[in-house]
Amino acid sequence: MSAKIIDGKAIAAQVNDETAAEVAALIAQRNLQPGLAVVLIGENPASQVYVGMKVKKCAELGIYSEKVVLPKDATMAEVLALIERLNHDPKIHGILVQSPPPPQIDEEKIIEAISPAKDVDCFHALNVGKMLTGRRDGFFPCTPYGVMVMLERSGVDPAGKHAVILGRSNIVGKPMMALLVQKGKGADATVTVIHSRTKNIAEYTRQADILIAAIGKPEFVTADMIKPGAVVIDVGINRVEDPASGKGYKLVGDVKYGEVAAKAAMISPVPGGVGPMTIAMLMQNTVKACKMISASRMG
Ligand code: GUN
Repeated sequence: MSAKIIDGKAIAAQVNDETAAEVAALIAQRNLQPGLAVVLIGENPASQVYVGMKVKKCAELGIYSEKVVLPKDATMAEVLALIERLNHDPKIHGILVQSPPPPQIDEEKIIEAISPAKDVDCFHALNVGKMLTGRRDGFFPCTPYGVMVMLERSGVDPAGKHAVILGRSNIVGKPMMALLVQKGKGADATVTVIHSRTKNIAEYTRQADILIAAIGKPEFVTADMIKPGAVVIDVGINRVEDPASGKGYKLVGDVKYGEVAAKAAMISPVPGGVGPMTIAMLMQNTVKACKMISASRMG
């Protein structure tokens, strides 16, 4: 058996087309253009790439964007002053501070300073709480939201299935758990979360109908760890040394792709899987933020 590839790039392109149409309609009918501020503190090379991709996608979809780069020795006061300015900027509906920030920056304080109405990452405790309680007037975090849309548009219904999540991060593992276990269409899974202190990891992963790998360990999931016919979603993006490549490194996921693809029913590749979906959902969240902010101003 060879797995069907879940083409995140193609699904993201569909979502992006829909977003572009929504943006065009908002501009034409209501003279309202969604706007996103992307903040980068320091010079982390991977973060620079991600921030560049987010700003470029905004331009492609007709979303206004501002990229703000602060030096790696920026102070908390400087970052908080910037957030305060963006919170009050009427052109900006979404604010994203690229993670991880440099060590002198208290990320939690920064997240809590972002207006919940503009928290398109869904990192603020208020929005995390709304997500957990199944409310629709907040946001879903971009990567887990992207995985949900990938499953839905690939015809995978999680209802009654055993979804096993590798990783318990605040960005992916924990919100992924909340979205999959949620009552309702496209969710309703039975969920197990695996982490670094879990004993006998493979015992759990072998029971997974849907396996979501988000632990940041290159090629951690091997064929012997999965059930034949499983759906495997690889959230990992790891740089590993590769002297043969011009850059000196290559990108691999948390899943040993070749051998797992031979056993799974469906698999998402890296790159071209979850990555493009994360950005597509960020754009969707920015449009949602714009609509909600505009509705609250009118109300
Ligand atoms: N770093 C890795 N993923 C993300 C994300 O979704 N949002 C932000 N702000 N930083 C990240």
